[in-house]
Order: sequence, then C-alpha cells, then structure tokens
Amino acid sequence: MQKLVIRGEKRLYGEIAVQGAKNSALALLAGCTLCSGEVRLTNCPALSDVFAACRILNRLGCKSRYSEHTAYVNAGSISECAVPEDMMREMRSSIVFLGAILGRKGQCELSFPGGCELGPRPIDMHLSALEQMGARITEEYGVLCCECPYGLHGAKISLGFPSVGATENIMLAAALAKGETVIYNAAREPEITDLGNFLNCCGARISGQGTSTVVISGVEKLHGCEYEVMPDRIAAATYMAAAAITGGELDLKNARAQELEAVIPVFEQMGCAVFTYDERIYINCKRPLKAVRTIRTMPYPGFPTDAQAVVMAALTKAKGTSVVVENIFCSRYRHVDELVRMGANIKAEGKVAVIEGVKRLYGARVRACDLRGGAALVLAGLGAQGETEVEKVCYIDRGYENIEKYLREAGADITRMTG
Ligand code: EPU
Repeated sequence: MQKLVIRGEKRLYGEIAVQGAKNSALALLAGCTLCSGEVRLTNCPALSDVFAACRILNRLGCKSRYSEHTAYVNAGSISECAVPEDMMREMRSSIVFLGAILGRKGQCELSFPGGCELGPRPIDMHLSALEQMGARITEEYGVLCCECPYGLHGAKISLGFPSVGATENIMLAAALAKGETVIYNAAREPEITDLGNFLNCCGARISGQGTSTVVISGVEKLHGCEYEVMPDRIAAATYMAAAAITGGELDLKNARAQELEAVIPVFEQMGCAVFTYDERIYINCKRPLKAVRTIRTMPYPGFPTDAQAVVMAALTKAKGTSVVVENIFCSRYRHVDELVRMGANIKAEGKVAVIEGVKRLYGARVRACDLRGGAALVLAGLGAQGETEVEKVCYIDRGYENIEKYLREAGADITRMTG
C-alpha cells in the first residue's frame, strides 16, 4: 500500500503544466469502440482509470496501447461485447462503454456498477434513454444484458437531470444509430463538448454539444483520427487550491479560465489574485485567506462538485465562516472527518458543510476515501504544520497524474512511500 508523506507549510511557487482531462479521456476511449480505423488520443493522462479503460478495450478485442501521453486504439478488430465484472468494478465510469458497445455491436453485457465511494450511483436515465432508442435491457443477478434486435434508432430524449454519463452514453449510442437523436436538458460540461468534437473528427454528425440541446444524426461508419484531449479543469482547480492553502504563487499552463468561471471568483473572494491569459491561469495568494459566500455545487456552468473537496481544504484556513452545499452527490463529505483530524473546524450535515477557518492545521495520519477527497487531504497536508501521511493513494492516482512530482517541482516537501 502506498502513502504520501508531506511536510507542510512550504510555500508553492513556479509553473505546473496541467494534465489532460480524466473525465474526457475516459469518454473518448469508450468512443474509440465505435471507430473502424486507428484513433490516436494525445495529451491522454497517465492515470490508473485510463489504463483500466485500455484494458477494457483490449478485452473487447480492440488493440490498444499507451505510450508517452498518447493512447493508440484500433477497434477494427472488436469481437466481444461483454465487460467482465472485475473490470466494471475497477472503474465505475466504465458504464460509458454501454452506449458505445451497443452502438457498434448491437448488443452489450456488463455488470451493474452499483454504488461507489460517492454513494449510490443510479443509471436509470442511461437505461431509459437507450430503451427509447430501441434497446431491450434485462437485469439478472447484477448483470445487464442489452440488445437491439432491430438496431438502434434515433429518439427525442428529455433528461430529468443533466447527467454527464447519460448524455455521453446517448451521444455514443446515437452516433451510429439510424436517424436523428435529440437530447433535451443535456449536460453542458466541457467534457461533453470534447466528446462531441472528437466524434465529429471521426466522421460523426453532432451539433449543440456544450448546450442543453444536443442533436446527433446517425452515420454509417466512424473512422480513426488524431485528437488532443482537453486540459483537466479539476486538476487546475486543485493546483489553485494548493497555491491558496500554502500562500503560494503558481502559473498553471494548459488551464482554460473560461471553463472555471464559477471557480475563479471563489479564489478571488478568498483574497487571491488571479490573472488569466492564453491557456494559463496565474494565481498569487500572498494575503491571509478570507472565508467566502456560500458555495453551491451545480451542473456546469455552476460550481463543479469535483472541486468541492479541494476548495474546502483551502477554506479550512480562511478567516471567518464559509458554507458549502453539495447538490450533486449525496455522500461527498467523507474527507471532512479526516480534515477535522488535522485540526479543521467543519460541521457537515446532509448537503451542508459549515467551515470555521482555523489559524493552523496539524499534520496527522489520514486516509483518502475517494479521488477528490484524497486530493483535499494532500492539500491540507501542504498547509499543515508538521508531517501528514495520506494513505490509500490509489484513489488519488485514479485522477491525478503523479501528483507528488508536480507539487514537489513547485516546492512542496512530499514523497511517495510504499508500506
Ligand atoms: N444520476 C441518477 N441517474 C442516472 C444518472 C445520474 O440519479 O441515471 C444522478 C447521480 O446519482 C448523481 C447525479 O445524477 O447524483 C449526477 O450524476 P452524473 O451522471 O452527472 O455524473 P457521472 O456521469 O456519474 C461524471 C464524472 C464525475 C462528476 C460528475 C458530475 C466521469 C467519469 N465522472 O459522473 O467525476 O462528479 O460527472 O460532474 O465523467 C470525479 O472525477 O471525481 C468524478 C466523480
């Protein structure tokens, strides 16, 4: 078991190049299933979730390999349509393969993803949408069997909530379906725009990605292409929070300010100076941090749930009272108890967390319970007096490429240890 050992209170300073986006890369890798030629995904982050997606592709009979931030996938030889349970469990977001496999093979079998660290993760909207497109879905002993005897066809689908995964699954299933599919109340996250742009690069006919109405006109075939994965806006927000909690100064390369419009003002309210130019965000946090007005997580373009934990870590040291309301997931405060062990003053109940800023955090042995919560503990360790050990780094490795290397290059005292 690996852990990160951090000796805190070192001010971060320097440049960090932000990795490619995990949540885009995973959807794009699933999308490769639909293509007959080779796809080259550049700027693909080296993450355990990305490697898990490549293993799924190989299991399906595709040829995939990963080298130096590029994933090469050729699904010309796809032969299987089932994803085994151990692979589904390894990566909850493998549900996005459902629409892609069904679109390409006309059938798909995978185990029900069930709950995860963030609480129950229902997929009712994914399934109902695919049924509207002609899929027949049965569930037996936790295994989903999907088939479409007459092929998938276009449909007009209204989502009750702008679910990211459901929007992706519908886009993937509709790309090769007969006729036109319209998604109303679609998710507008930048990763959806990236998926639409990627599929179009492969020959799909998709418009409206990034707005709440996405229109997909099915085509006969998709071909290969070369495509650059978008930068990771949540990793960028995480490094901004690292600068804030250490009173540091970072210049983030490959960071798109327009995708962080709900996040940047929060750092400004905390008293940080933020300048954005080209694809860079510069943040300088010399002054003591101040509490912020209520943060409510919302679907994009609202404040992202994925940035909630890391911003909360910075707020633990902000003078005054801050309030966070988590509206997307029902169990996304598991980092709170661990932050409290480090001296933070946070009360969380239901959707609401109240953070009273403290003067000091103290190093402690803490455990990551999920990806973003784990990153929050690393940040707290950077801002704490003394030594912090963060256990269960495997959660953090799912979404952050070599987090300790980037932080160390910016001046942090952080080491990965085994055992
Ligand atoms: N939901 C349903 N039914 C459904 C689908 C979703 O009730 O059929 C609910 C979920 O339970 C949740 C809410 O709707 O309460 C939002 O879920 P959504 O489908 O939008 O999220 P997701 O596709 O499961 C993606 C990201 C998450 C990110 C959310 C919200 C990937 C691989 N995952 O999840 O990323 O938090 O969108 O932006 O893209 C992370 O990176 O740490 C992470 C968890």
